[in-house]
Amino acid sequence: MVSAILSRSQSARIRTQSFNSPRASLVKRKWWAPESFLNVLPVVLILIALVLVLGSVAYSSYFRDLSRGNLVPGLVDRDEKCDVFEGSWVRDGNYPLYNSSECPFAERGFNCLANGRKDTEYQKWRWKPKRCDVPRFNASEILERLRDKRVVFVGDSMSRTQWESLICMLMTGVSDPNSVYEVNGNQISKTIRFLGVYFQAFNLRVEFFRSVYLVQQGLPPKHAPSRVKSALRLDKMDEINRKWVDADVLIFNSGHWWTRTKLIDSGCYFQAAQSLKLGLSITSAFRMALNTWASWVETRINTNKTHVFFRTYEPSHWSESNPKVCELTEQPMPDAQGNDRSEFADIISEVVRNMRVPAVVLNVTSMGAVRSDAHIGNWSHPVASFDCSHWCLPGVPDAWNELLFSYLLTDGW
Ligand SMILES: *[C@@H]1O[C@H](CO)[C@@H](O)[C@H](O)[C@H]1NC(C)=O
Ligand SMILES: *[C@@H]1O[C@H](CO)[C@@H](O)[C@H](O)[C@H]1NC(C)=O
Ligand SMILES: *[C@@H]1O[C@H](CO)[C@@H](O)[C@H](O)[C@H]1NC(C)=O
Ligand SMILES: *[C@@H]1O[C@H](CO)[C@@H](O)[C@H](O)[C@H]1NC(C)=O
Ligand SMILES: *[C@@H]1O[C@H](CO)[C@@H](O)[C@H](O)[C@H]1NC(C)=O
Repeated sequence: MVSAILSRSQSARIRTQSFNSPRASLVKRKWWAPESFLNVLPVVLILIALVLVLGSVAYSSYFRDLSRGNLVPGLVDRDEKCDVFEGSWVRDGNYPLYNSSECPFAERGFNCLANGRKDTEYQKWRWKPKRCDVPRFNASEILERLRDKRVVFVGDSMSRTQWESLICMLMTGVSDPNSVYEVNGNQISKTIRFLGVYFQAFNLRVEFFRSVYLVQQGLPPKHAPSRVKSALRLDKMDEINRKWVDADVLIFNSGHWWTRTKLIDSGCYFQAAQSLKLGLSITSAFRMALNTWASWVETRINTNKTHVFFRTYEPSHWSESNPKVCELTEQPMPDAQGNDRSEFADIISEVVRNMRVPAVVLNVTSMGAVRSDAHIGNWSHPVASFDCSHWCLPGVPDAWNELLFSYLLTDGW
C-alpha cells in the first residue's frame, strides 16, 4: 500500500525547470587529501549510510504528506518520472472540451468554426505525455479548487487566448452563465490592457493583463538619434506589474513581439539604465528583459502563495516560400520540421532554471510544433490576412490549461 502511494505521488510530480538553484556559482572546495583517504574511509562509509537512511525517511514522509488527498486520479506513470511536455497528440472523439459559440468569452476571431471552417478534426486531439496520462479537465472539480482565488495571465495575445480558453473550459462547470461576467463590462479587444472575468458562485477571478514585452516601453532619452521613436527599458518591469503581485497563479509569456519589424523597424530601440543600446541583438535584449522579470519575481512575489509559470514560445507555421500565408493541414504534421526549436524557448528555460525561487516552465514549444492544422488561417473575424500564429479555440491552448492544472493539483494545491 505504501509503495503504491509512493509511486503515484512520484508520478504526480511533473518535472520542472527550477528548484532553488542559486544564481551565484558554487565555490569548489577540496575537502580531503588522497593520502589521508584510507584513514577516513570507515567514517565516510558510516556517514554515507546515515545519509541514505535519513534521506529515505525524509523522502517517504515528504511524499506521504504530498499524497494526502491531493493526487489527481489518472496521472499514472510507469517510469515514475514524467515530463508532461514530452509526448504526442492522439485522436480522441471526446474532445473538444467546449463549444466556442456557447462561450461568451471566446472572441469571434478565434472561433474558426463560426468563421467558416468546415473540417472539425483539428478539435479532436488530446495531448498524451509519453510516460503518463493527463487527467481530463474536470471543470466542476477545478472550479471548487479555485474558489476564492485569482488566476492572472500576463503577456501578448497568446496569453489572451489561453485566458479565453480557461474561462470557456471552466464555464462548462457553471450552472448559471449569467453569474460569470467581465468586471468592467468590457468587450474583448486586441489592445485592451486589462480584462477580468469574475465567477460569482466561486468568488474566482480569471484575469488577463496585456504586456507584450513585460518590461516598460516609453519615450527615448533626450538627445537620442531621431530614428529612435521609443525605447524598451530592459531593466524596468512594465508599470502595471503591481497588479500582478497578489495572484494565486501567475502565467507569463512573451516572444511574439520581439521581432525586428515590431521593434527596430518601428523606431523602438533598447535602453538599460540611462543609455540606449543601439546595437544590442534582439535575443540579448530578450534575455536581459527576462532577467529583469526573474529578479522581480524573486523580490516581489511571495512564492509561498503564488505559483509562477512561464510559457515558452508557441510555434507558428508561416509558409517558408511565402511568409504571408500558411498551408494549414487538416491533421497534425507527422513531424515537427524544425518548429520545435526556438531560441526564445531556450532563453526562457535557462533564465527560469537559474532563479532562486520556484517557477515552472510550461514547455509548450514542441507540443505545438506539429499542429499546423490548428491555426486560424483565413478563418478569422473580421476576415483579415492569413494568421498562422494564433490558434483556433477550442484547440491547442486548451491543452496548455490541462497541463497547467494537472500540475497545480498534483503539486498539492
Ligand atoms: C521541452 O520539451 C522538448 C520535448 O520534450 C525537449 O526536447 C526540450 O528539451 C524541453 N525543454 C526544456 C527546457 O525542458
Ligand atoms: C456549438 O453551438 C452552436 C450554438 O449553440 C451550435 O449551433 C453548434 O452546432 C455547436 N457546435 C458543435 C460542434 O456542437
Ligand atoms: C468531476 O469532479 C466531480 C467533483 O469532484 C465529480 O463528482 C465528477 O464525477 C467528476 N466528473 C468526471 C467526469 O470525472
Ligand atoms: C515561505 O515559507 C517558508 C517556509 O515555510 C518561510 O520560511 C518563509 O518565511 C515564507 N516566506 C514568506 C514571504 O512568507
Ligand atoms: C482559405 O484557405 C483555404 C486553405 O487553407 C483555401 O482552401 C480557401 O479557399 C481560403 N479561403 C479564402 C476565402 O481565402
